[in-house]
Amino acid sequence: MEVIILDNQEQVSQFAANYVASRILKKPRIVLGLPTGSSPLGMYKKLIDKYQQGILDFSEVITFNLDEYVGIVPGHSQSYNSYMYKNFFNFVNIKPHNINIPDGLVADFDNYCKKYEQYIEDCGGIDLQILGIGRTGHIGFNEPSSSLGSRTRIKTLTESTRQDNARFFNSIDEVPHHVITMGIGSILDSKECMLIAFGEHKAESIAAMVEGCISSMLPASALQFHPSIKVVIDSAAASKLKNKEYYKFVYDNKPAWQYV
Ligand code: GLP
Repeated sequence: MEVIILDNQEQVSQFAANYVASRILKKPRIVLGLPTGSSPLGMYKKLIDKYQQGILDFSEVITFNLDEYVGIVPGHSQSYNSYMYKNFFNFVNIKPHNINIPDGLVADFDNYCKKYEQYIEDCGGIDLQILGIGRTGHIGFNEPSSSLGSRTRIKTLTESTRQDNARFFNSIDEVPHHVITMGIGSILDSKECMLIAFGEHKAESIAAMVEGCISSMLPASALQFHPSIKVVIDSAAASKLKNKEYYKFVYDNKPAWQYV
């Protein structure tokens, strides 16, 4: 794991946007895995800026979103489908047929989830999977006890995740209990991962993910298996890492040949 500790949220968003941009410039037909939540909002804004400045072209980019609530229509103000259009897709030249967001309303979930996985594979697999992390240590909506080999499927949210996400709904009663999410195994198949987080409330899950035991009780810890993952965090989210000085030294002294 490459742990990159920056001063604040703004720097994390800037780093993430620059990194995604560099990957798109290198491979215009890149397959991106995308997250929702508040963590990637700054990154999306900066990617939009780069598009508007003529630095980036999304016309070949293919995207797969990590997750979606079950039982709410795509146009619902709090669906992840709406989030993606409101915060990103409406402002760049991505082609609608290259956008893939799990459908939380299908009749045959088993079949649909298999097809979602198959289509990722048909597109050549995810080149760069971007992730946030939830307070329970979840990635996507893989809550504690998720199998570390899991694939896209239906999950039930924990009460703490429902409470965290209730801020976007009128009341907690409106937060769905069920979600469709790419699995831990699906995420680990990506060629490269970048997880972004900031704020003290993320410090515990970040420390457990980076320095704790690998366990399905902290699903993000499975990322320790990933051969190419960047964990980009601010100093508040890094505050509970035992080896933070070492990670800073490694990053500050990264030899030129390590940049790919
Ligand atoms: C939700 C999403 C996750 C996201 C998490 C953290 O549960 N399904 O993909 O990482 O929230 O959200 P935030 O970035 O708002 O802290």
